[in-house]
Amino acid sequence: MDRIRIGGGRPLNGQIAISGAKNATLPLMIASLLSAETLSLTNVPNLADVNTLSRILGNHGVDVTIAGKRAGESPDHGRTLRLSAAEIVDTTAPYELVSRMRASFWVLGPLLGRCHEARVSLPGGCAIGTRPVDLFLDGCRALGARVELDGGYVVASAKGGLKGADYVFPKVSVGATHTLMMAATLARGRTRLINAACEPEVSDVAACLNKMGAQISGIDTPELVIDGVERLHGTSHGVLPDRIETGTYAMAVAATGGDVYLTGTRADLLESVIEVIKSTGTQVEATNDGLRVSRNGAGLKPVTVSTAPYPEFPTDMQAQLMALMTLAEGDSQITETIFENRFMHVQELARLGADISLDGETATVHGGPSLNGAEVMATDLRASVSLVIAGLAASGETIINRVYHLDRGFERLEQKLAACGADIERLTS
Ligand code: UD1
Repeated sequence: MDRIRIGGGRPLNGQIAISGAKNATLPLMIASLLSAETLSLTNVPNLADVNTLSRILGNHGVDVTIAGKRAGESPDHGRTLRLSAAEIVDTTAPYELVSRMRASFWVLGPLLGRCHEARVSLPGGCAIGTRPVDLFLDGCRALGARVELDGGYVVASAKGGLKGADYVFPKVSVGATHTLMMAATLARGRTRLINAACEPEVSDVAACLNKMGAQISGIDTPELVIDGVERLHGTSHGVLPDRIETGTYAMAVAATGGDVYLTGTRADLLESVIEVIKSTGTQVEATNDGLRVSRNGAGLKPVTVSTAPYPEFPTDMQAQLMALMTLAEGDSQITETIFENRFMHVQELARLGADISLDGETATVHGGPSLNGAEVMATDLRASVSLVIAGLAASGETIINRVYHLDRGFERLEQKLAACGADIERLTS
């Protein structure tokens, strides 16, 4: 299994091109199930999750092709993916495939919408908490589907098609919002999704669905109104920039010091994160094409932050912030309100010398002046990149094991950081 070696203690200076958002790419790919025509996606990041989902969609009959690079294009140019679901050949998403990637469960909505039936394996356990699917099932039932559980599978059907309805989410869920929004595009009549997730990736998918002929209004608000249409057609859509990748590199610069331009991204996608980074004493400046982040010499100030649905501070940045705050001058408090078990990075950060105490959903980070390199293990996607940030700031050598977690969500991480002066390499075995 591949590992990453980092020689810590070097500031980052230069430019990093931000990739298309993983969390928009996956539901956009799934949206291809809704139409018999081709959906063409540009700015698609080259990630393990994208390849896994291509295989899963292939099982339903979606023909996925990746366009080659054009002359003059650099590795920073995202890929173009063409997805054609002329015919859905199988409405079952089997356990062996769904268990590889939780987001593949989201095929439930579009399959029900287009084929009026779906049999999708329950996603099973996950390293960052129990992650139930009750909202998906209740929402499908609200749209008139019969939903049963049978042998670890969700079996859903809607004879004659789904019917528009009001559904109030008792809790904000990104995945359930994606799924129900997609299902409702082909339902008869009007659906209102109330207390829907407002994450920019949901808005990106809604914008793409509208280009495909859907009628969705209330985009960017917690009340999505969807007027069902007979069919959707093909379109071309550019994936929005990855705000989590943007915030992660911004925190890496805050941790190591230096001066880096993050290009091809948008400050408005991560205002809460920028505010927190600024409050540590790091400079962040929005530019025409992204962000400039710099910190020279000044110490880092501690923060008190709680994760919450967008536009508040994202759970997907919690581990990275914790790594940063181990370097602050004083105690920080970080509260995780979205996933109950998302603190597995704490014990790995401790191996690098971090002093963090946990009390329920709140971590108190006792910031200290230095971390020391050590051998650590990546436990999940965002936790593993927090170890990269800590390793870049630590003195000496850090080895990160199980980097396949990183490959799920960060494109060419070592190359992007090495180009800014980091001593980082992949050790392949
Ligand atoms: C998505 C993101 C993930 C991010 C998360 C929260 C993708 C591919 N993944 O995950 O990176 O960390 O949003 O911003 O976009 N819940 C229920 N019942 C349900 C569904 C969810 O109780 O039926 C709970 C979850 O356990 C969790 C909370 O709702 O506590 C939010 O989860 P959700 O927004 O659904 O996360 P995902 O869509 O899986």
